[in-house]
Amino acid sequence: MTPAQNPRLIVTKAVLWFLVGVAAVVAVVRFARGLGVTTALTDATPWGMWVGFDVMGGVALAAGGFVVAATVYIFRRERYHAIVRPAILTAFLGYLAVIIGLMIDIGRPWNIWRPMFHWNLHSPLFEVAMCVMLYTTVLALEFAPVVLERFSWAVPIIRFLRRVTLPLVILGIALSTLHQSSLGTLFLLSGARMHPLWFSPLLPVHFLVSAVGLGLGMVTVESLVTSWLYRRQPEWDLLRGLTRAATVVLSVYFVVRLGDLAWRGELGRAFDGSWFAVLFWIEMGMSTLAPVALFLRARKGDGHWAITWGSFLMTAGFVLHRADVGGISHIAVTGQVYVPAPTEVAVSLGIVSGLGLIFLFFVENLKVWEEPPPAVDHFTPAAMDPVSSQYIGSPWLGEGQRAALAVICGVVVGIALVEAQVESRRRSAARPIHPPRSAAVEVTPRADGKGHVFEVVSPTVPAAMTEAVAGGGLLQDAILIDSGGEGRLVLFPHAAHQRRLGGEASCTACHHRNVPLDRATSCSHCHRDMYRWTDTFDHARHVVALDQSLSCRVCHRDRNAARTRAESRACASCHQATPPHLTRVRTTREAEPGLAPGYEKAMHGLCLGCHREEEKGVAVADRSLSRCTTCHRDEFASDAEMRQRPPFTVVAATSPEPEGAVGGGVRGAAGTTGGSP
Ligand code: HEC
Ligand code: HEC
Ligand code: HEC
Ligand code: HEC
Ligand code: HEC
Ligand code: HEC
Repeated sequence: MTPAQNPRLIVTKAVLWFLVGVAAVVAVVRFARGLGVTTALTDATPWGMWVGFDVMGGVALAAGGFVVAATVYIFRRERYHAIVRPAILTAFLGYLAVIIGLMIDIGRPWNIWRPMFHWNLHSPLFEVAMCVMLYTTVLALEFAPVVLERFSWAVPIIRFLRRVTLPLVILGIALSTLHQSSLGTLFLLSGARMHPLWFSPLLPVHFLVSAVGLGLGMVTVESLVTSWLYRRQPEWDLLRGLTRAATVVLSVYFVVRLGDLAWRGELGRAFDGSWFAVLFWIEMGMSTLAPVALFLRARKGDGHWAITWGSFLMTAGFVLHRADVGGISHIAVTGQVYVPAPTEVAVSLGIVSGLGLIFLFFVENLKVWEEPPPAVDHFTPAAMDPVSSQYIGSPWLGEGQRAALAVICGVVVGIALVEAQVESRRRSAARPIHPPRSAAVEVTPRADGKGHVFEVVSPTVPAAMTEAVAGGGLLQDAILIDSGGEGRLVLFPHAAHQRRLGGEASCTACHHRNVPLDRATSCSHCHRDMYRWTDTFDHARHVVALDQSLSCRVCHRDRNAARTRAESRACASCHQATPPHLTRVRTTREAEPGLAPGYEKAMHGLCLGCHREEEKGVAVADRSLSRCTTCHRDEFASDAEMRQRPPFTVVAATSPEPEGAVGGGVRGAAGTTGGSP
């Protein structure tokens, strides 16, 4: 069957073109509008899917190139010659994935050439960059004869390249092993952030050994997939040979991984029942245990299914390993959960699809296989025959038309995806906090007898006050909490709460953290965004405040300990609310000291927590302290509804109005804006 009529091929190519279309739109937006709108990355998680999957995975998947080249040219197993070209091509495309992924991920891609000339010999990233560049060049040279074969003028070049094949192969193997392991070295730096089941001083060794196993698996996978696509027989006996070698490598890997854990005394963590132990065994099961069992089975009998399953599982398992080291296992320590945005997934899929299409193009048009697939049919577009009034020609769309159609569909979906992403980023955008102000409020009992209505009389208070107002109300000072500056304010009778909680001694009940020498630091000093977490720690500022170079040992008391938050002196030892310490703020976060939750969470944590507790004594029907309207102005049932409320404007006035004005209804709920807070 020719490729033009092969439905598998038609559908696969259409899907690949579609994914390329989606990714193209996202890539354009990424360069036009930056990483902020196209990714879910944050300062706490600056490396995401593009690094974890495209770069780490791309390099790992390219390992087939050096493994097969070594088998054929160094160990002289000539029978594997048939798979050298596809393996080299896969490796080359894998590295292209790395480069494209990096170009899209780094902030200023036009600087990517810099490592070539500005050498930073202390940086593992420098080694990674140089190896990627050199090895991609070597792979291109190794593959060049396949392309040049088509041109008669290139004969002398090919002859030259053939002569230098062996040196090229050796250079390639050296660069590639160096690079596979140096990716592991790179992650030695993130030591303290990584879960101990993955972190090890032997990471470079883990990476290298697994790369060899993965290389063998990847060559098998690629051969199986393309054979399925073009409906031809895979080279089963070659593949069986590869899996036999893989069995040995995987066993070595398993022993190294577990032996390393045992040696470091961390083996117990693999059985502690935590999520990370489960993840560890899923990874080991997919990458090592299941494939070895399957490959051993495949030795006896024909076992094609065992080879197929084994190599697919192994490849997926090692890609998972790279993702675990590159990010997933960091969650255990940092507590920062990162979920890639759909746009990020789209770009990664698009890169893989694009390179898949290049692979298929080369297979169809060059001599990648010893026996290339039959040529694509020539396509005659259908046309009306004027004589017989019948359509003649192919009823199908041609290759190019199909591709164009798929790309157009992809572009449409890509635009929708980016729109959705931009919208969701806008909604979750930073909402910095405006500090609270003091205000004079009028308090009147509600009609239903439950609680009071609070209304702003004046946004400023000259002095503490509690005055009765004509008409049954009470004029008192409160804190006007309008942290969004949008008028969706909450009036907090601060003085009344102080009084209730013990006056001068009350402060520590609510003010759970203070800046030194302060008795009651405003919450907004640390809880600086409405919804997002804020890192409150400023290293340089502390060094200055604590006497410069003398300060270091105040916090880093153990010279040999890692300089992390967990190992440094506890923030609370200087910043606790002064004793007697009986704060009502219940903190739930242990992981990284110094990260303060969003303002809404802080306020609800304090205010609602106590109000709910206070209510416990009364009958359910009488509970009003925890109703949203006790603190918020309007009735609403959900957060989303609340945010749609029209803003609440406060009349500007320098001092409380005379009683007449209060009685006359110049209340906070209406009127004109009195300038920004
Ligand atoms: C330590 C416990 C506690 C904390 C913390 C607390 N409250 Fe209260 N609050 C009370 C109690 C008790 C009352 C009831 C007083 C009464 O009815 O005499 C009250 C009453 C109120 C009222 C008046 C209700 C009415 O209609 O009369 C408002 C408004 C209020 N609190 C807002 C807040 C806000 C806003 C916060 C957080 C910034 C907060 N409270 C934190 C205990 C607390
Ligand atoms: C019921 C809880 C509670 C108690 C008790 C309490 N405060 Fe506060 N205090 C708050 C809240 C809530 C805020 C304002 C929210 C913010 O800063 O974002 C605040 C703000 C303040 C501010 C800053 C106001 C501003 O304009 O920035 C000062 C000063 C302050 N409190 C002092 C005290 C002192 C002094 C005491 C003890 C006598 C005390 N507070 C007792 C909850 C409390
Ligand atoms: C000096 C900085 C600082 C100030 C001031 C501060 N907080 Fe916090 N707050 C934190 C940090 C940091 C955390 C995280 C837990 C921890 O490390 O203690 C936190 C945690 C909380 C939590 C627990 C949230 C959770 O889910 O764990 C609540 C509630 C809270 N703060 C409320 C307040 C209120 C209300 C005020 C003002 C009265 C306030 N905070 C003032 C730094 C501060
Ligand atoms: C107030 C306590 C404090 C003082 C004083 C202090 N450190 Fe730190 N240091 C920390 C904490 C906490 C971290 C972890 C920082 C983080 O996680 O962001 C840290 C991190 C570090 C790091 C790791 C690199 C980094 O930035 O993440 C180094 C190096 C370091 N400190 C050196 C010093 C030196 C040198 C001094 C004296 C000039 C000093 N520190 C003074 C608390 C302190
Ligand atoms: C050895 C005592 C000490 C330790 C430990 C310490 N701090 Fe401080 N911190 C200070 C002093 C002193 C200041 C006052 C600095 C100034 O005046 O600028 C301060 C100021 C601050 C401020 C207020 C800075 C501002 O913006 O005004 C924050 C927030 C803060 N520290 C957070 C932290 C966190 C988070 C940690 C733990 C990672 C920590 N501190 C550990 C002594 C300490
Ligand atoms: C005891 C007082 C209290 C109660 C009860 C309360 N809140 Fe709040 N809430 C606050 C305070 C204080 C803020 C901070 C307001 C600000 O800074 O503008 C807040 C903020 C919010 C915000 C964020 C405001 C914004 O501009 O995005 C939402 C949403 C919210 N509350 C929803 C609710 C809902 C829903 C309920 C009822 C289940 C509720 N609150 C009950 C005190 C309360």
